[in-house]
Amino acid sequence: MTGISRVGVVGAGQMGGGFVQVCARGGLDVAVACRDQASLDRARERTGRSLESLVRKGKMTPAEQAETAGRIRFGTGLAGLRDCQFVLEAIPERLPDKLALFTELDAAVRDPDAILASNTSSLPLARLGSATGHPGRVIGVHFFNPVPVMPLVEVISALRTSADVTALTAAFVTDGLGKQVIHAQDRAGFVVNSLLVPYLLHAVRMLEAGIASAEDIDNGMRLGCGHPMGPLALIDLIGLDTIASVGEAMFAEAKEPMYAPPPLLLRMVESGLLGQKAGAGFYPY
Ligand code: 3HC
Repeated sequence: MTGISRVGVVGAGQMGGGFVQVCARGGLDVAVACRDQASLDRARERTGRSLESLVRKGKMTPAEQAETAGRIRFGTGLAGLRDCQFVLEAIPERLPDKLALFTELDAAVRDPDAILASNTSSLPLARLGSATGHPGRVIGVHFFNPVPVMPLVEVISALRTSADVTALTAAFVTDGLGKQVIHAQDRAGFVVNSLLVPYLLHAVRMLEAGIASAEDIDNGMRLGCGHPMGPLALIDLIGLDTIASVGEAMFAEAKEPMYAPPPLLLRMVESGLLGQKAGAGFYPY
């Protein structure tokens, strides 16, 4: 056992919200730090709906639902994270926002040995660590969408992350959350996105070039290669804005054209066609 029982999360969107659910179901106390009252209300409502759907599907009893919900504390600002032993940052993929948040988290989380983790999929952990006075406790913990379903977590140690923090984080993710860990170096994209993002962006380029329809591109990979969903449906699930930001961060580091978001993706993001969460992306929802 890792001894970690009080966890926190900053940002309760798609990824943060999934992490909250996994932790609370696993018997951990979770403090959720939201930006403001409106985002707190949305997060509370989404969490409630998600737990209700588990009850409806017979995966959770009403008593378990009440217990799980009772372990989650929602708040605005970082004050509620004070006593946490592990905090996951899951705000949108913008470096200046994340740097400012890590400086604030370093001051807000009282125990200097508490772990400050980022769910970033492409930004340098070294930069996030350097925004704090304790870079040894900063680490990357990258979940996959949908968080309650996907078994993988990438653990990314920066050059100054302490070996103890890496070992404790890996133990927490496996023993505490029931996930499987792979380790990766602090390079944009880590393992999975280095392979996945060029593939997803190439599917957008194929659509843009008129090589095939969205349905045929997706059916090609589903039916021909056994993928659970095609690349364009997967971008809709992840969020077009997220894929565009991840591609931009990877392109900024590697300067490889395969990571550059194609114009069609950028125009769709600018038009608010962000995928499932917005009700429309490559497909309507
Ligand atoms: N929360 C909880 N459970 C969920 C869920 C959610 N958001 N979404 C689906 N599930 C559960 C369902 O309840 C169901 O459980 P059951 O089999 O016990 O009844 C199970 O997952 C399967 O779901 P469905 O039957 O509704 O649908 P599918 O069988 O079509 O599966 C899928 C949906 C799990 C999303 C599947 O299509 C899939 O695995 N897709 C690929 C997802 C993927 O590649 N994710 C990685 C994205 S990359 C990323 O996140 C990194 C980032 O940095 C870009």
